Amino acid sequence: MSNPGFYRGRRLRRTSGIRDLVRETEIRPQDLVQPYFVVEQDDPGYRNPIPSMPGQEQLGLSALKDRVGRARENGLLAVILFGLPKAKDEAGSQAYAPEGIIQEAVRLLKGHYPELTVITDVCLCEYTSHGHCGLIEEGRVQNDPTLELLAGTALAQVRAGADMVAPSDMMDGRVQAIRTALDREGYQEIPILSYAVKYSSAFYGPFRDAAQSAPSFGDRKSYQMDPANVREGLREARADSLEGADMLMVKPALPYLDVLSRLRQETDLPLAAYHVSGEYALIKAAAEKGWIDEEGVVLETLTAIKRAGADLILTYFAEAVLEGMKKK
Ligand code: PBG
Repeated sequence: MSNPGFYRGRRLRRTSGIRDLVRETEIRPQDLVQPYFVVEQDDPGYRNPIPSMPGQEQLGLSALKDRVGRARENGLLAVILFGLPKAKDEAGSQAYAPEGIIQEAVRLLKGHYPELTVITDVCLCEYTSHGHCGLIEEGRVQNDPTLELLAGTALAQVRAGADMVAPSDMMDGRVQAIRTALDREGYQEIPILSYAVKYSSAFYGPFRDAAQSAPSFGDRKSYQMDPANVREGLREARADSLEGADMLMVKPALPYLDVLSRLRQETDLPLAAYHVSGEYALIKAAAEKGWIDEEGVVLETLTAIKRAGADLILTYFAEAVLEGMKKK
């Protein structure tokens, strides 16, 4: 008997066949959710590239349908929708109008692709004239009066056919308010994916260009979390699960993998991570300069997010990753 003497980890890395046998984390098509920006436009074929997010566009309704159709052919299973209304007002009324742009988009997509999972973002910032995620009184975002509007938004989206609602506003009590409203109307079966642990992040910059949702005064620090805090994130997550959230989200993703990993240990709910616009832009910019290999960096990034504990990843790279998988 020879004494091995030292650990030979390379034995299991010797061929790709062996490496695959011991691979612990895999990105699967059903893990990916592609976000889309839908614009209320007279021209339904409208497409407007977003400069800070190369490859992403603001889409009119039929342009959305076409782009989702192409992605479906590559295996896209789930989308999350953000809306840009024609008119904004103090109370964000187009968020919950029965004919609001998101409600129209949901009806269109579910009509064409009944098997597609359509998730809707529940928030007011894209619909309010001031760009905040809630009602403003005396220059401050009012928590409790906002809850009713958020619940109304979720309800309008679900009535239009949304499969799941994802509140991203960070008002306290909104999961409970939405759950109560949905249950009252007979939608007990519709799950809530709560953006439970959402940081006040500089990584949202490109999104705010894309969704025209930057606040016109102040910032979102009175409702979004301080990037320095992890215990606070665990409290938010616990509160939302007690209020009835079915899944919890951490956002952004890569800079907060420690939070995701902690949360994975503390809850048995499924977890989502949002690989946000700024994270997308970083990779795209470096790849455009030829400084990194885009596909390699994207797959490594998404694998890391999953390894840290995400069951589901919302990412602007979903379409491209699926296209890559199909080619292999
Ligand atoms: C709406 C919302 C934002 C994002 C998702 N939902 C912007 C924000 O909170 O300012 C950001 C997503 C991204 O950056 O890709 N509240």
